Amino acid sequence: MPSELSQAKAALRQQLLADRMLGLKSVPIVPPAPRPVHVEAGKARTDDGPSTKEKAESLKGLDDTQVKVCTKCSLAQTRTHTVFGQGHPAARLVFVGEAPGFEEDRQGLAFVGRAGQLLTRMVAAMGLTRDEVFICNVLKCRPPGNRDPAADEILACGPYLMEQLQIIQPEVLVALGAPAAKTLLNTAQSIGKLRGRFHEYYPSGMEGFGPSIPLMPTYHPAYLLRNPSEKAKAWEDLQMVMDLLGLQRPNKTR
Ligand code: URA
Ligand code: SF4
Repeated sequence: MPSELSQAKAALRQQLLADRMLGLKSVPIVPPAPRPVHVEAGKARTDDGPSTKEKAESLKGLDDTQVKVCTKCSLAQTRTHTVFGQGHPAARLVFVGEAPGFEEDRQGLAFVGRAGQLLTRMVAAMGLTRDEVFICNVLKCRPPGNRDPAADEILACGPYLMEQLQIIQPEVLVALGAPAAKTLLNTAQSIGKLRGRFHEYYPSGMEGFGPSIPLMPTYHPAYLLRNPSEKAKAWEDLQMVMDLLGLQRPNKTR
Protein backbone atom coordinates (compact mmCIF):
# COMPACT_ATOMS: atom_id res chain seq x y z
CA MET A 1 0.00 0.00 0.00
CA PRO A 2 1.51 3.36 -0.94
CA SER A 3 1.77 5.62 2.09
CA GLU A 4 0.19 9.06 2.12
CA LEU A 5 3.65 10.53 1.94
CA SER A 6 4.62 8.60 -1.18
CA GLN A 7 1.30 9.52 -2.79
CA ALA A 8 1.96 13.18 -2.03
CA LYS A 9 5.45 12.81 -3.46
CA ALA A 10 4.02 11.23 -6.62
CA ALA A 11 1.52 14.08 -6.97
CA LEU A 12 4.28 16.65 -6.54
CA ARG A 13 6.47 14.92 -9.08
CA GLN A 14 3.51 14.89 -11.51
CA GLN A 15 3.11 18.64 -11.08
CA LEU A 16 6.82 19.22 -11.59
CA LEU A 17 6.76 17.22 -14.80
CA ALA A 18 3.76 19.19 -15.98
CA ASP A 19 5.69 22.36 -15.20
CA ARG A 20 8.45 21.05 -17.40
CA MET A 21 6.09 21.47 -20.34
CA LEU A 22 5.97 25.14 -19.41
CA GLY A 23 9.69 25.31 -19.82
CA LEU A 24 10.21 26.05 -16.13
CA LYS A 25 13.78 25.18 -15.38
CA SER A 26 13.99 26.15 -11.73
CA VAL A 27 12.51 22.89 -10.48
CA PRO A 28 14.59 19.74 -10.06
CA ILE A 29 13.58 17.13 -12.61
CA VAL A 30 14.60 13.55 -13.06
CA PRO A 31 17.29 13.19 -15.70
CA PRO A 32 15.73 12.02 -18.96
CA ALA A 33 16.03 8.32 -19.71
CA PRO A 34 18.22 7.44 -22.68
CA ARG A 35 16.04 8.15 -25.69
CA PRO A 36 15.15 5.13 -27.78
CA VAL A 37 15.67 5.42 -31.49
CA HIS A 38 12.17 6.34 -32.45
CA VAL A 39 12.11 5.62 -36.13
CA GLU A 40 15.05 4.62 -38.19
CA ALA A 41 15.24 6.96 -41.12
CA GLY A 42 15.37 5.19 -44.43
CA LYS A 43 14.57 1.77 -43.01
CA ALA A 44 12.03 -0.26 -44.92
CA ARG A 45 9.12 -1.71 -42.96
CA THR A 46 9.51 -5.38 -42.08
CA ASP A 47 6.10 -6.13 -43.59
CA ASP A 48 7.31 -4.96 -47.01
CA GLY A 49 5.10 -1.91 -46.80
CA PRO A 50 6.24 1.40 -48.24
CA SER A 51 9.70 2.55 -47.16
CA THR A 52 10.31 5.86 -45.44
CA LYS A 53 11.57 7.28 -48.74
CA GLU A 54 8.42 6.18 -50.55
CA LYS A 55 6.25 7.72 -47.86
CA ALA A 56 8.18 10.98 -48.08
CA GLU A 57 7.61 11.02 -51.85
CA SER A 58 3.89 10.28 -51.48
CA LEU A 59 3.50 13.09 -48.93
CA LYS A 60 5.37 15.53 -51.15
CA GLY A 61 3.23 14.52 -54.12
CA LEU A 62 0.03 15.10 -52.15
CA ASP A 63 1.26 18.50 -51.01
CA ASP A 64 2.65 19.69 -54.35
CA THR A 65 -0.08 18.45 -56.66
CA GLN A 66 -3.16 18.84 -54.45
CA VAL A 67 -2.85 20.87 -51.25
CA LYS A 68 -0.66 23.75 -52.48
CA VAL A 69 -3.02 24.40 -55.40
CA CYS A 70 -6.27 23.59 -53.59
CA THR A 71 -9.32 25.81 -54.04
CA LYS A 72 -11.89 23.40 -52.60
CA CYS A 73 -13.11 25.90 -50.03
CA SER A 74 -13.21 29.67 -49.63
CA LEU A 75 -10.14 29.75 -47.33
CA ALA A 76 -8.07 29.52 -50.53
CA GLN A 77 -8.90 33.18 -51.15
CA THR A 78 -7.56 34.51 -47.84
CA ARG A 79 -4.54 32.28 -47.16
CA THR A 80 -0.92 33.36 -47.62
CA HIS A 81 0.45 29.80 -47.60
CA THR A 82 -1.09 26.36 -47.31
CA VAL A 83 0.20 24.43 -44.29
CA PHE A 84 0.60 20.74 -45.09
CA GLY A 85 2.30 19.79 -41.82
CA GLN A 86 5.79 18.48 -41.23
CA GLY A 87 7.84 15.84 -39.48
CA HIS A 88 8.93 12.26 -40.05
CA PRO A 89 7.19 10.66 -43.05
CA ALA A 90 7.03 7.30 -41.23
CA ALA A 91 6.36 8.68 -37.74
CA ARG A 92 4.93 6.28 -35.19
CA LEU A 93 3.12 9.21 -33.60
CA VAL A 94 1.10 11.94 -35.35
CA PHE A 95 -0.29 15.08 -33.70
CA VAL A 96 -3.33 16.66 -35.34
CA GLY A 97 -4.27 20.25 -34.54
CA GLU A 98 -7.03 22.51 -35.76
CA ALA A 99 -5.85 24.95 -38.43
CA PRO A 100 -2.96 27.27 -39.18
CA GLY A 101 -2.85 30.54 -37.24
CA PHE A 102 -1.20 33.84 -38.20
CA GLU A 103 2.39 32.67 -37.92
CA GLU A 104 1.70 29.30 -39.58
CA ASP A 105 -0.02 31.03 -42.53
CA ARG A 106 2.94 33.40 -42.84
CA GLN A 107 5.57 30.64 -42.79
CA GLY A 108 3.68 27.73 -44.34
CA LEU A 109 4.59 25.53 -41.36
CA ALA A 110 2.39 23.88 -38.72
CA PHE A 111 2.60 24.89 -35.06
CA VAL A 112 5.34 27.51 -35.21
CA GLY A 113 3.60 30.27 -33.22
CA ARG A 114 3.11 30.51 -29.46
CA ALA A 115 0.94 27.37 -29.24
CA GLY A 116 3.50 25.61 -31.41
CA GLN A 117 6.28 26.46 -28.99
CA LEU A 118 4.31 24.85 -26.19
CA LEU A 119 3.69 21.80 -28.39
CA THR A 120 7.45 21.58 -28.98
CA ARG A 121 7.95 21.47 -25.19
CA MET A 122 5.22 18.84 -24.82
CA VAL A 123 6.95 16.67 -27.44
CA ALA A 124 10.31 17.25 -25.70
CA ALA A 125 8.80 16.28 -22.34
CA MET A 126 7.97 12.93 -23.96
CA GLY A 127 11.67 12.51 -24.77
CA LEU A 128 11.07 13.13 -28.47
CA THR A 129 11.88 15.79 -31.04
CA ARG A 130 9.53 17.30 -33.59
CA ASP A 131 11.54 15.60 -36.36
CA GLU A 132 10.62 12.18 -34.96
CA VAL A 133 6.87 12.77 -35.00
CA PHE A 134 4.53 14.26 -37.61
CA ILE A 135 2.54 17.42 -36.86
CA CYS A 136 -0.36 18.63 -38.98
CA ASN A 137 -3.86 20.11 -38.84
CA VAL A 138 -7.42 19.34 -39.88
CA LEU A 139 -7.47 22.45 -42.10
CA LYS A 140 -4.53 23.32 -44.32
CA CYS A 141 -5.46 27.01 -44.68
CA ARG A 142 -5.95 29.65 -42.01
CA PRO A 143 -9.50 30.72 -41.18
CA PRO A 144 -9.51 34.57 -41.15
CA GLY A 145 -8.98 35.94 -37.65
CA ASN A 146 -8.41 32.38 -36.39
CA ARG A 147 -12.16 31.73 -36.24
CA ASP A 148 -13.33 28.15 -35.69
CA PRO A 149 -13.25 25.91 -38.77
CA ALA A 150 -16.64 25.75 -40.51
CA ALA A 151 -18.30 22.40 -41.19
CA ASP A 152 -18.01 22.77 -44.97
CA GLU A 153 -14.29 23.56 -44.65
CA ILE A 154 -13.68 20.44 -42.56
CA LEU A 155 -15.62 18.42 -45.12
CA ALA A 156 -13.56 19.83 -47.99
CA CYS A 157 -10.16 19.57 -46.29
CA GLY A 158 -10.63 16.42 -44.18
CA PRO A 159 -9.73 14.03 -47.03
CA TYR A 160 -6.18 15.47 -47.16
CA LEU A 161 -5.68 14.59 -43.51
CA MET A 162 -7.10 11.09 -44.08
CA GLU A 163 -4.68 10.63 -46.98
CA GLN A 164 -1.73 11.86 -44.92
CA LEU A 165 -2.58 9.28 -42.26
CA GLN A 166 -2.95 6.54 -44.92
CA ILE A 167 0.56 7.31 -46.14
CA ILE A 168 2.28 7.71 -42.76
CA GLN A 169 0.48 4.76 -41.10
CA PRO A 170 1.20 5.90 -37.55
CA GLU A 171 0.79 3.63 -34.54
CA VAL A 172 -0.82 6.30 -32.38
CA LEU A 173 -2.61 9.60 -32.95
CA VAL A 174 -2.97 12.58 -30.64
CA ALA A 175 -5.88 14.90 -31.42
CA LEU A 176 -5.14 18.39 -30.09
CA GLY A 177 -8.41 20.06 -29.19
CA ALA A 178 -12.05 19.52 -30.06
CA PRO A 179 -12.07 20.09 -33.84
CA ALA A 180 -9.38 17.43 -34.40
CA ALA A 181 -10.96 14.93 -31.99
CA LYS A 182 -14.45 15.48 -33.35
CA THR A 183 -13.31 15.22 -36.97
CA LEU A 184 -11.28 12.05 -36.49
CA LEU A 185 -13.72 10.30 -34.16
CA ASN A 186 -16.93 11.53 -35.73
CA THR A 187 -18.33 12.54 -32.37
CA ALA A 188 -19.93 15.62 -30.82
CA GLN A 189 -18.56 14.96 -27.32
CA SER A 190 -16.52 17.69 -25.64
CA ILE A 191 -12.74 17.39 -25.34
CA GLY A 192 -13.08 17.32 -21.55
CA LYS A 193 -15.19 14.14 -21.86
CA LEU A 194 -13.09 12.56 -24.59
CA ARG A 195 -9.60 13.07 -23.13
CA GLY A 196 -7.90 10.72 -20.68
CA ARG A 197 -8.49 7.48 -22.59
CA PHE A 198 -7.81 5.99 -25.98
CA HIS A 199 -10.41 6.00 -28.73
CA GLU A 200 -10.20 4.34 -32.14
CA TYR A 201 -9.64 6.14 -35.43
CA TYR A 202 -10.80 4.14 -38.47
CA PRO A 203 -8.78 4.95 -41.62
CA SER A 204 -11.58 3.28 -43.63
CA GLY A 205 -13.84 6.15 -42.57
CA MET A 206 -16.36 3.60 -41.28
CA GLU A 207 -16.56 2.97 -37.58
CA GLY A 208 -15.80 -0.66 -36.78
CA PHE A 209 -14.70 -1.44 -40.33
CA GLY A 210 -11.10 -2.46 -40.97
CA PRO A 211 -8.10 -1.87 -38.74
CA SER A 212 -8.09 1.08 -36.37
CA ILE A 213 -5.45 3.33 -34.84
CA PRO A 214 -5.56 4.28 -31.16
CA LEU A 215 -6.22 7.99 -30.72
CA MET A 216 -5.72 10.07 -27.60
CA PRO A 217 -7.67 13.32 -27.50
CA THR A 218 -6.11 16.01 -25.34
CA TYR A 219 -6.24 19.74 -24.78
CA HIS A 220 -4.96 22.04 -27.50
CA PRO A 221 -1.75 23.86 -26.53
CA ALA A 222 -3.48 27.22 -27.18
CA TYR A 223 -6.07 26.23 -24.56
CA LEU A 224 -3.26 25.21 -22.19
CA LEU A 225 -1.67 28.65 -22.62
CA ARG A 226 -4.94 30.21 -21.43
CA ASN A 227 -5.55 27.53 -18.76
CA PRO A 228 -2.14 26.44 -17.43
CA SER A 229 -3.71 24.52 -14.55
CA GLU A 230 -4.96 21.97 -17.13
CA LYS A 231 -1.41 21.09 -18.18
CA ALA A 232 -1.15 18.26 -15.67
CA LYS A 233 -4.11 16.53 -17.36
CA ALA A 234 -2.57 16.93 -20.82
CA TRP A 235 0.67 15.49 -19.46
CA GLU A 236 -1.25 12.47 -18.08
CA ASP A 237 -2.69 11.93 -21.58
CA LEU A 238 0.74 12.16 -23.20
CA GLN A 239 2.20 9.70 -20.71
CA MET A 240 -0.48 7.17 -21.70
CA VAL A 241 0.66 7.69 -25.30
CA MET A 242 4.25 7.07 -24.21
CA ASP A 243 3.17 3.81 -22.55
CA LEU A 244 1.49 2.64 -25.74
CA LEU A 245 4.60 3.43 -27.79
CA GLY A 246 6.83 1.67 -25.27
CA LEU A 247 8.60 4.90 -24.35
CA GLN A 248 9.77 5.11 -20.77
CA ARG A 249 7.91 7.57 -18.56
CA PRO A 250 10.43 9.97 -17.08
CA ASN A 251 8.82 9.70 -13.63
CA LYS A 252 8.56 5.92 -13.38
CA THR A 253 9.72 4.71 -9.98
CA ARG A 254 12.01 1.75 -10.09
N1 URA B 1 -3.04 25.96 -33.80
C1 URA B 1 -3.31 24.87 -34.53
O1 URA B 1 -4.29 24.18 -34.32
N2 URA B 1 -2.45 24.54 -35.49
C2 URA B 1 -1.35 25.24 -35.76
O2 URA B 1 -0.62 24.85 -36.67
C3 URA B 1 -1.11 26.37 -34.98
C4 URA B 1 -1.96 26.72 -34.00
FE1 SF4 C 1 -8.29 23.41 -49.83
FE2 SF4 C 1 -8.22 22.76 -47.27
FE3 SF4 C 1 -7.28 25.10 -48.02
FE4 SF4 C 1 -9.90 24.67 -48.10
S1 SF4 C 1 -8.61 24.70 -46.24
S2 SF4 C 1 -8.67 25.59 -49.72
S3 SF4 C 1 -9.97 22.50 -48.65
S4 SF4 C 1 -6.45 23.09 -48.57
